[in-house]
Amino acid sequence: MKVLSLGGAGFIGSHLTERLLHENHSVMVVDYYDDKISELIGQPGLTLLKQDIREDNWGLEEHVKDADVVIDLIAYANPGLYVKMPLEVFELNFTENLKIAKACQMLNKRLIQFSTCEVYGKTPASFLNGNLVNPDDPAHATFSEDHTNLIMGPIEKHRWIYASAKQLLERILHAYGLEQDFNYSIIRPFNFIGPKIDYLLNETDGIPRVFSYFMDALIHGGQMKLVDGGNHRRCYTYIDDAIEAIYRIVQNPNRVCDQEIFNIGSPHNETSIKDLAVLMKDIYANDMWQEGMPELPEIIDVSSEDFYGKGYEDSDRRIPDITKAKSLLGWEPEWDMVSTLKATMNYYVTEYRLHYGMRSWKHDLLKKAMASKH
Ligand SMILES: NC(=O)c1ccc[n+]([C@@H]2O[C@H](COP(=O)([O-])OP(=O)(O)OC[C@H]3O[C@@H](n4cnc5c(N)ncnc54)[C@H](O)[C@@H]3O)[C@@H](O)[C@H]2O)c1
Repeated sequence: MKVLSLGGAGFIGSHLTERLLHENHSVMVVDYYDDKISELIGQPGLTLLKQDIREDNWGLEEHVKDADVVIDLIAYANPGLYVKMPLEVFELNFTENLKIAKACQMLNKRLIQFSTCEVYGKTPASFLNGNLVNPDDPAHATFSEDHTNLIMGPIEKHRWIYASAKQLLERILHAYGLEQDFNYSIIRPFNFIGPKIDYLLNETDGIPRVFSYFMDALIHGGQMKLVDGGNHRRCYTYIDDAIEAIYRIVQNPNRVCDQEIFNIGSPHNETSIKDLAVLMKDIYANDMWQEGMPELPEIIDVSSEDFYGKGYEDSDRRIPDITKAKSLLGWEPEWDMVSTLKATMNYYVTEYRLHYGMRSWKHDLLKKAMASKH
């Protein structure tokens, strides 16, 4: 199969590109970075176009025409950015993604669109506490693709622009399906983690996602900061489990994925952010820390406003209902929470510096330079 993978050199994209090549598909990756697939460059079947898709006339239609299936992974996927530059997030995650969808619809190509579990928003328990008999019951936070209502916060909490843009894109794909028989599949990832999730200090994209933020504190010293007490709960999904599900969606046996939305996540790996910090610190202390390394970080509380700025709000809890993925794809996640963290942390402790030595080295220099200013 000829696959056009837009954003195919990012965290999920790099693992997916590796799997697609391994299965002998030909993959055209369009991305403006290539660091995370550097070891794949030169492999038969891979073509890389380093391109910012926001530029005009870069050849979107020709590349879509040439593909059997199009996978769209391009987005800003980092909460720090939703708060800092909501308009840019909207422009990339909605306007630019819509151009890709339109090209696929016009050229009659199947599109696999990456959306997000953030489209579910908040749980009813987060604002109906007094009226629920058992607000902690997982049933209030278990979200299913085709039945659950989507609950966003107020407009002044502009962090919701990410989820709203993704939701509107999903609604448009659905409408193309209804009115023009467009063939799409939508994936809603639930907190995937694994090697290459983010750089430890991302100089261009602000604060990285929570795993990388904690990992940075463990490796380089500092503090593990819990935003608003770290009480929010998430279901962490190891990237190998996720890629298995995504690959089955690409294969689309008997066309079971046509015009379907899939939750991909590990319902049994639920943990609060506070427990995540404690678990990561324990694993690091027991398995990875050695004499001479920076002191283990303390875990402290910070307000969301101090950490992200005004306009931040977040989903309190989200658990994927994966009945659909189980029944249509025969997929179930296998990795538990501890193995997921150990595998991911091990990568950052052992391999990250080899792959991204320059960035890591620049990072240390930058930290020293900033420290000497105070
Ligand atoms: N990782 C998760 O757990 C998760 C959760 C929910 C949703 N998602 C969605 O899955 C998709 C992939 O996520 P990810 O974690 O791999 O993110 P990522 O940031 O690692 O990957 C996105 C890729 O898109 C590329 N890109 C961004 N803007 C571009 C532009 N203008 N031109 C060309 N390339 C551009 C980036 O260079 C990057 O390689 C995104 O749509 C994200 O919203 C991911």
